[in-house]
Amino acid sequence: MKKNILFVASECSPFIKTGGLADVVGSLPQALKKNGKGDIRVCLPLYQDIPKTWRNQMEVVTTLDVEVGWRTHQATFYQLSYKGLTYYFVANDYYFSRNGIYGYEDDGERFLFFSQAVIEALFLIDFKPDILHAHDWQAGLAVALAKIYQPVQDMKTIFTIHNLKYQGIMQKDAFEDLFNIPPDHIAGLEWHGLLNSLKAALFHADKITTVSPTYADEIKTPYYGEGLHPFLSERSDDLVGILNGLDMEAYNPKTDPNLFTNYSYSRKKKQENKLQLQEQFGLTIDQDIPLYVIVTRLVEQKGLHLIQAILDEFLQENVQFILLGTGDYEFEHFFYHAAERHSEKMAAYLSFDEALARQLYAASDFFLMPSLFEPCGLAQLIALQYKSVPVVRETGGLKDTVTPFDEYNDTGNGFSFTNYNAHDLLNVLRYSLSIYNDKNKWTTLFKNIKKSNFSWKDSAKAYDSLYSSLLTSEMQHA
Ligand code: GLC
Repeated sequence: MKKNILFVASECSPFIKTGGLADVVGSLPQALKKNGKGDIRVCLPLYQDIPKTWRNQMEVVTTLDVEVGWRTHQATFYQLSYKGLTYYFVANDYYFSRNGIYGYEDDGERFLFFSQAVIEALFLIDFKPDILHAHDWQAGLAVALAKIYQPVQDMKTIFTIHNLKYQGIMQKDAFEDLFNIPPDHIAGLEWHGLLNSLKAALFHADKITTVSPTYADEIKTPYYGEGLHPFLSERSDDLVGILNGLDMEAYNPKTDPNLFTNYSYSRKKKQENKLQLQEQFGLTIDQDIPLYVIVTRLVEQKGLHLIQAILDEFLQENVQFILLGTGDYEFEHFFYHAAERHSEKMAAYLSFDEALARQLYAASDFFLMPSLFEPCGLAQLIALQYKSVPVVRETGGLKDTVTPFDEYNDTGNGFSFTNYNAHDLLNVLRYSLSIYNDKNKWTTLFKNIKKSNFSWKDSAKAYDSLYSSLLTSEMQHA
């Protein structure tokens, strides 16, 4: 069945990216296109930070007045074609000509404007989606407004949760200040007396998805539910977890131009990357010392408190550790000083650098990801592609992609621990080290890793079936 799908999101690679959301919104439509069954388009805000090279290729589609409560703001819709798909960009200088893409006091209002503009544009433009597929809270109100205003007859909606922690919450007076919706719609947008953009989407979406099966289960519990678990449990029949894939062309150690030495399966060639980085970071140059790395945003979600608690102890072993990332001051400060204390064994590069990130995936023997929660996680998939063994906490997508190595049955592609406990992490790190030091077992593990494959193919198929099931059930009802 041929379908028109409109993705609505706040970031999309290669145009603008702060995290994994951009990778998914960048890759999934392209993967769906390969299945060849639809016209998939993507809509995002035109931020000031979107580079000129893209802007120069854009054409105006339409200009419209958008009502945000008592205000009227103009939105200009641009489009460009990239790798065979159409991308729309919503421009408004007041809301989007700013540095960076998030972090403003009026973010709620900015993305309400974006959502309202998308819905109003659907009355005007000649693309009529069968399904509006929105991602994360920034596009949540587009789902709600689609149901309230119905710009396209029978259009269905899907909302994908990439991270439940961020919900786009505004004070209740925002209802009067920012919306013109009839009062009986307010209850759907509200949660505990506040306006909640994400809950608004959960309430209105025909289907809710999230980015791994385990996270889909976890978010129905208080520990992971971020206060929305009762509501997610209520909607559990319409909630499904579909694992994200990895763009295998974009992340390929055989062709990656950032690496010192390209490789596919050769351990020897992979190790040349390690020797280079050891030299670059002033660590002891020795290919036999196992190199553990972490590439991450420095935020609590990523389990950094656990690493903090055991780092000095772990670095007493014959190991090396490199951290790349930027984020909360607390962590930057800690890792900066830890690297000073252990300068022969550890380095911390407190910034974000895509080329260095890829060099680290290639150079490392182990990749750490002890997250507190992890809806899917992309880094462990990249690590597997670059034959770096993931050491993870069993949560969300980490649990669904990393199977603990079983030295008796020769199965598994990584190491994992269950409880959010620093010494459980230390134990599993020590165990990983013992496997590294056992040549036969390490060879087996390395072989297993080669078999891990997380491309978009299966995920795109799963989304495609979900789209079909929504549209078929509609036809049956008609
Ligand atoms: C968010 C999640 C991450 C997931 C990504 C893409 O960044 O924290 O786990 O991989 O979205 O879905």
